Amino acid sequence: MGVVYAFCLIKVCPPFEATPFSFWGFLVMLDKYILDVCCGCRQFWFDKNHKNTVYMDMRKEEKGFQNARPNKEIQPDIIGDFRNIPFSNRSFKMVVMDPPHILADGPLFRMAKEYGWLDKLNWWNDIRDGFNEAWRVLDNYGTLIFKWNETSISKKDVLNAIGKRPLFGHPVGSRVNTHWLCFMKTT
Ligand SMILES: C[S@@+](CC[C@H](N)C(=O)[O-])C[C@H]1O[C@@H](n2cnc3c(N)ncnc32)[C@H](O)[C@@H]1O
Repeated sequence: MGVVYAFCLIKVCPPFEATPFSFWGFLVMLDKYILDVCCGCRQFWFDKNHKNTVYMDMRKEEKGFQNARPNKEIQPDIIGDFRNIPFSNRSFKMVVMDPPHILADGPLFRMAKEYGWLDKLNWWNDIRDGFNEAWRVLDNYGTLIFKWNETSISKKDVLNAIGKRPLFGHPVGSRVNTHWLCFMKTT
């Protein structure tokens, strides 16, 4: 019944903007349990249009924004800043966060253009604020997956900024510099 109602609304009263706080947005959100707070090109998603996921990023980029990879694009469901996530508390069962990890002065090279970059002076606050916001919109006993690459900043330093201890990930001494860290909101 709800689906029929939504369909009629779209047909009768277009356009309905699917913002998190609009009525249409509310309907769209009914089966969304996962939030990717900075989805980029969705490269690590096996299903790049997972039906229960909201894909967010602070920017949109059309195909061709990367000369070397003409098919890459950034098409989030919503434009948003992970330091101020436009959802209410405890909205998602899982939050995924793969923030930029390269310290740079701007999109001067391919990696920074594709994956974004961290401000040299403010990275600590930006990561801390982003993680706190991801935590806020996570439901109780929800899972937060945080990905980090140590090219510019060590895992130890980023965990200090986050101020929370992951349940598990790649242990100290493993020779990888990309880390997948798993947190659960138990309190
Ligand atoms: C490492 S990339 C994500 C790659 C993505 N996980 C994938 O599989 O393709 C980081 C992304 O964070 C986005 N970003 C940077 N700062 C952000 C912010 N404050 N809020 C939301 N997204 C941000 C960048 O635009 C970039 O697309």
